[in-house]
Amino acid sequence: MRGFHLWDLLFLILLGACGTLAHDLNCQRSSTMKVGVGLSKTFNWTAEETETCDSGALCQESIIVIKAGTKTALLGSKGCVYDSMESITFIQHSPPPDLVAISYSNYCEDMLCNNREEIHHFGDLSTYADSIVQSSNRCPTCLALGTCSSAPSLPCVNGSTRCYEGKIKITGGDINATVEIKGCTAMTNCRLMSRFQTVGPMLIKETCSIQPFIKPRFAENGSSLASHFGFGVRATAAIAAAITCPFVLRKYLWSWVSQCLC
Ligand SMILES: *[C@@H]1O[C@H](CO)[C@@H](O)[C@H](O)[C@H]1NC(C)=O
Ligand SMILES: *[C@@H]1O[C@H](CO)[C@@H](O)[C@H](O)[C@H]1NC(C)=O
Ligand SMILES: *[C@@H]1O[C@H](CO)[C@@H](O)[C@H](O)[C@H]1NC(C)=O
Ligand SMILES: *[C@@H]1O[C@H](CO)[C@@H](O)[C@H](O)[C@H]1NC(C)=O
Repeated sequence: MRGFHLWDLLFLILLGACGTLAHDLNCQRSSTMKVGVGLSKTFNWTAEETETCDSGALCQESIIVIKAGTKTALLGSKGCVYDSMESITFIQHSPPPDLVAISYSNYCEDMLCNNREEIHHFGDLSTYADSIVQSSNRCPTCLALGTCSSAPSLPCVNGSTRCYEGKIKITGGDINATVEIKGCTAMTNCRLMSRFQTVGPMLIKETCSIQPFIKPRFAENGSSLASHFGFGVRATAAIAAAITCPFVLRKYLWSWVSQCLC
């Protein structure tokens, strides 16, 4: 009997590879541009539309989540992507308190694998607002696609040091949008997106100015503010953390994310 040779194995591998290449890859396709209250809990990212990619493609799903005041902005894209490797990336661009920006991107190679429905694992930023103490400082606060129609002066949480007023322009991945953002921050520069210029296929351009706080009309008694300050310190320490995981490790990503964010 003939032994099993390396060449046989190689042939089988090549056969397997050809078999894979012969299939057309289908991916979900959508673009998301939304601003609202509580969106990260209710948002269903499932795309109705699918597309067939050219050879050499992967599927991708990428989203930017920004929180200012009570509102959340979601800018997301699903579709084919080329010249990329399988990976999952989660970035906390701006840590709490106050303005928060995170992004998530998943590149995968199986049929319709860009099928994430919910984003509350990583996109629910509402806890930040509830669990941090307020200070007497205030900033104009708003979040809107295009231009804010108003920007009421809202209290900042302790730990914020300035007011941020900026615009983020996002193009690519079927998105062409500008988001206006105002709110309290501890940033000293225009780094809401921590100088990242892409999230998946989306290109990001940030312009902003950093302003001093609006002068409070009266000084409030701050003695009741101390209770939850520990949270603020811990969350701030997780500054602009970025992680890209090989695809096989993706099950560990969420435990890492929840440790950092919760
Ligand atoms: C999202 O929408 C899809 C299709 O419209 C549906 O099948 C799925 O159950 C929804 N997911 C959630 C979590 O509501
Ligand atoms: C995006 O929209 C703006 C104005 O709405 C337009 O001037 C610009 O050409 C668009 N960019 C792309 C890449 O479609
Ligand atoms: C704040 O109020 C508490 C009692 O409510 C009082 O004991 C304390 O002196 C006040 N502090 C300031 C800075 O006014
Ligand atoms: C607010 O933050 C400042 C500096 O970060 C700290 O010194 C102060 O004790 C904090 N106040 C409260 C009430 O937590």
